[in-house]
Amino acid sequence: STDTVGATPPMGWNSWNQFGCDISDQVVREEARALVSTGLRDAGYGYVDIDDCWQAPERTVDGALQADPTRFPHGIKPLADYVHSLGLKLGIYGNPGARSCAQRNRGYPGMSGSLGHVQQDADTFASWGVDYLKYDWCGADEYGVDRTTAFAQMRDALHATGRDIVYSINPSDGNALGATGYWDDVATMWRTTGDIKPVWDQGAAGVVNILDRQVGLAPFAGPGHWNDPDMLEVGVVPGGYTASYPGLTDTEARAHFGMWAMLAAPLIAGADIRHLDATSRDVLANREVIAIDQDPAGIEGTKVRDDGDREVWAKQLADGSVAVALLNRSATSQPMSTTAAEVGLAADTTGYRVRDLWEHDSTETAGVVAANVPAHGAALYRVTPIDNPAQDAPHTALRLDG
Ligand code: GLA
Repeated sequence: STDTVGATPPMGWNSWNQFGCDISDQVVREEARALVSTGLRDAGYGYVDIDDCWQAPERTVDGALQADPTRFPHGIKPLADYVHSLGLKLGIYGNPGARSCAQRNRGYPGMSGSLGHVQQDADTFASWGVDYLKYDWCGADEYGVDRTTAFAQMRDALHATGRDIVYSINPSDGNALGATGYWDDVATMWRTTGDIKPVWDQGAAGVVNILDRQVGLAPFAGPGHWNDPDMLEVGVVPGGYTASYPGLTDTEARAHFGMWAMLAAPLIAGADIRHLDATSRDVLANREVIAIDQDPAGIEGTKVRDDGDREVWAKQLADGSVAVALLNRSATSQPMSTTAAEVGLAADTTGYRVRDLWEHDSTETAGVVAANVPAHGAALYRVTPIDNPAQDAPHTALRLDG
């Protein structure tokens, strides 16, 4: 059942942010191998997710979905078997209406939505060994589909297969329902915004624009159900589908990754892992930051102070520590600080240990946490009361998928 997956935010890789529709069996296999060779699988990135454009234009004579015969010549099952053999899991993409998003918006051929085929498609995915379904609305109402009914129908169809499948939905509802916690009972994770792009601040699609839309949503996240501020742009380079965006600087990429960890967001890398630069690799593989995201308490962080271009965020952790982010959105470096009280730590006369999650070193403080934060950067700390016996607990414990 879908209840047993997603106890912590799902982690993996997805084809969309770098490749768009330009995907194939070969690319997916190479990305899976690269997750292993870069150490990202062992850092927790367990799902290899094929996004849109894997579908053949036509269903089989029996009405089943099938993969594009040119780009996925072996079909999906052998690809799932291969991905599983590497200790990874496979994800795929579908829609409740008649067309996929690329079929609706980009002229990709066919009508591969699950309308009229919901249980058949769930059964097909399960028979292929699929472990994760991204189910994307994309104008399904144009076919008379009711949003809340449709997402519950696929949830029930996946349950009926008996296979553990992460259910990742994009209800495209401007958060109208997500902000009431409505999707908690429906999906493992639900998108809270439109599509992210590899840019710091632009329209609704940049890192900080997406971040702004997460304020107020923390109560709706918890083990088994997560707000999804969309996938990671760390290491995504301009070109092809992303040609009109600048990409993120290393500092921006660290801030993006750190803030997504503060949000207990699913960590779905969007870069071409085969050609990942060393800095992006180290950002994605930072186990102390991943541990903030994957903390077993599953409490989403919140903004505790907003000074315009400078924000303080805090995330309560299971061992009594608090993760603290000092986010500088401005174009110049800024001195920033917060206090133990402001981030919700109990008063502790002995003081606090402050672990810098980028520098991997620790200091002690009586209560003030301060840093000079670079432009478009985020300092990230794990702050632990020294009197708290949890101070000696391992802080890099990870659940390893696969
Ligand atoms: C929508 C989704 C994206 C991606 C594309 C594929 O835009 O929000 O994440 O899945 O569809 O066409």
